[in-house]
Amino acid sequence: MNTKAIRYNISSKEKYKRVIAAVHMVYRLVNSTFSTKELLIRLTRIICQLVGASSSCVHVLDDKGKHLKLIAVFNGKINILYERKADLAKATKDERSVVQGATIVRDRFIGLPLVSEENIGAIFMRRRPTQKPFEDFDREVLTVLAEEVVIAVRNLQLQELQQKVILDSIKSMGKFFANQGVQEFCQHAPAYYKIVQCLAEKMGMNEKDTEALEYASILHDAGSIDVPYHILSKQGRLTPAEFREIRRHPEKSVELIRPVSFLKPVLPIILYHHERYDGKGYPSGLRGEEIPLGARVMAVVDAAEAMLTRRPYKREISASRMTQEIRRQSGAQFDPKVVEAFCGLCDQTKFRKYLSIIGT
Ligand SMILES: [Fe+2]
Repeated sequence: MNTKAIRYNISSKEKYKRVIAAVHMVYRLVNSTFSTKELLIRLTRIICQLVGASSSCVHVLDDKGKHLKLIAVFNGKINILYERKADLAKATKDERSVVQGATIVRDRFIGLPLVSEENIGAIFMRRRPTQKPFEDFDREVLTVLAEEVVIAVRNLQLQELQQKVILDSIKSMGKFFANQGVQEFCQHAPAYYKIVQCLAEKMGMNEKDTEALEYASILHDAGSIDVPYHILSKQGRLTPAEFREIRRHPEKSVELIRPVSFLKPVLPIILYHHERYDGKGYPSGLRGEEIPLGARVMAVVDAAEAMLTRRPYKREISASRMTQEIRRQSGAQFDPKVVEAFCGLCDQTKFRKYLSIIGT
């Protein structure tokens, strides 16, 4: 919708058409957005267009309603999302009143609460002093849209909560097995996930692929819970049959996770995280870029972690020796581009710190 087309003193028929168009626009937004953060940030921009505001802001409260959890802002040019717990007491008086349920319409400012069974946040609109003040019609349009937004935010929050519960359950299973002495297969140090994130960013992976990689980092060895315990915990040399059993863990992880529909993009990373760049890996012997990028990234981080960690049957090695070893396997076990990115990161203090934490 063209903001310049918004006029005042428009006919009832025209108003009706505007409301329908606005509802349709937000409906499309809601149905094409799969995370609360993305929804809020896109919403601020669309709402500005719909009511001809110069800036807009959406606040979302935390579960207890005491703090602001997310704040999305559009100032006419830039979209920003603040994702940190902010004290509601520090918000302006108007912001506080609106978040707590009041509607404020004042010249060039509108504040509308987002109310479900309880207050979940608020939408704020502003116009410049050179623009006309808001009219009742603008508030009416925004009220209709706010109702749509409340439902969308609640649905996404519930969905995200459900996803968190599922991931936490799988993490707990990992913890349980780690406590049983099969740590290397079921649980990683928190620094492991930081290393994965840094490497994904360095490789230029987009937000969606990075998220899939992060889930895969948590879940890729989950299938080892289905590998007989005496094999996982064996400290001596494994027999060929035992090796075959262990090598089935990527497929077992996939079978375990397949019923969880939101984890579908994660499955190829999990299935192929033991493939090698030269085609000598398992389970399918994929080579080069046939292997999903996420799996190539994870292969390097997994190997680094294994080398840096002391186990009852092996000693750890230093970070510099680990880096040499990763380099030595460039083009053989690992993707040379991932190796280059990983070794580049090893020059950064923050990254070296994560590596040192893994090794403790
Ligand atoms: Fe694995």
